[in-house]
Amino acid sequence: MKSLRVGLGDRAYDILIAQNMLADIGRYLKEAGFAKRYFVVADSNVAEIYGEDMLASLRAAGYSPQLLTFPAGEESKNLALMGQLASRLARLGMDRNDALLALGGGVTGDLTGFLAASYMRGVSFVQVPTSLLAQVDSSVGGKTGVDIPEGKNLIGAFYQPRAVFIDSTVLKTLPAAELLNGLAEVIKYGVIYDRDFFDFLAERRLDILDLERSAIEKLVESCCAIKAAVVEADEREADLRRILNFGHTIGHAVEADSDFKLAHGSAVAIGMAAACRLAVLRGGFAASEAQRVIRLISDFGLPVSVPAAAEIKHLRGYLLSDKKTVGGRVFFVLPTAIGKVEISADIDPALLDQVLCS
Ligand code: NAD
Ligand code: GLY
Repeated sequence: MKSLRVGLGDRAYDILIAQNMLADIGRYLKEAGFAKRYFVVADSNVAEIYGEDMLASLRAAGYSPQLLTFPAGEESKNLALMGQLASRLARLGMDRNDALLALGGGVTGDLTGFLAASYMRGVSFVQVPTSLLAQVDSSVGGKTGVDIPEGKNLIGAFYQPRAVFIDSTVLKTLPAAELLNGLAEVIKYGVIYDRDFFDFLAERRLDILDLERSAIEKLVESCCAIKAAVVEADEREADLRRILNFGHTIGHAVEADSDFKLAHGSAVAIGMAAACRLAVLRGGFAASEAQRVIRLISDFGLPVSVPAAAEIKHLRGYLLSDKKTVGGRVFFVLPTAIGKVEISADIDPALLDQVLCS
């Protein structure tokens, strides 16, 4: 088992990574003593595949857990569903000595984390991420929240889990399209932070796509280590944490323009390729390096071109309404080398239009 620490003072926590660890999580929780009872929250898909195993693990450790489920999908990440879950917890008698356990992808983690931040003004929660995206990104760092009709993740809180348990064997049941969503974020880490990790992704691409054990373990561990380092340096996204938005600025615009029909990972992939092209046009990034990044994204089976149907004026509008845009200034995370980025709002609109057409 690998153990990483997210060093956040009195909110520090461990990320434990091991194969087939679901059965042992109850025991770890017993030893840690975070709570008297656990309420497991899972979406309908994950509850069906792993709900009973999770409950069995908790029961074997002497707990009497409850499972709360909700319909799978981003549509469930809303205030109404959160209210329903809170009512169910209150009726089940959950109190401040109890904790929530988020078993699932990023939707479950974000929703359960925000419920934990709000229920009785804050109860403990732990993350058991089951999608690749959740294992390498959303379960670590304490961003929790829900969507409202006016925008995704517009209501939420920074609220750290007490622990994160990552069992990468559960990825074998993850649909291929969901694996790709996570891989876009994985490539992001290599480009923004770690050239060696980027090289590893290029070398072990086929093993990664096959979910070969050692490749996936290294991948998950490296991503969590990078995310932990970034969050430790800047928990509330005042500065460094903004680099995690690489690919997400233009990505969100193309995703919104597609009326969210384009998968998030595809949108981020297009956004990363566009940011690379923009960085080259500005003169701060070698064309050969940009080509390597774009080739890797494409080799993993992700798109690298803005959809032909997208209109520039609409994309510009989405860029200006993005929640990362401040006072009309759109911030871009741009590579300067593979493994290094800078943040700039000083972009020539003509160059931006050029990359939005490519
Ligand atoms: P998701 O939670 O909807 O999971 C994707 C699908 O995979 C769902 O249908 C789910 O039921 C299924 N699934 C998950 N694990 C499975 C498994 N092991 N086997 C079979 N099916 C499985 O979506 P996601 O891509 O995991 O997360 C996306 C969400 O994460 C978005 O809401 C996004 O805003 C959020 N997010 C949050 C952060 C953060 O820092 N908090 C970062 C990135 C994304
Ligand atoms: N996924 C972006 C962040 O956690 O900051």
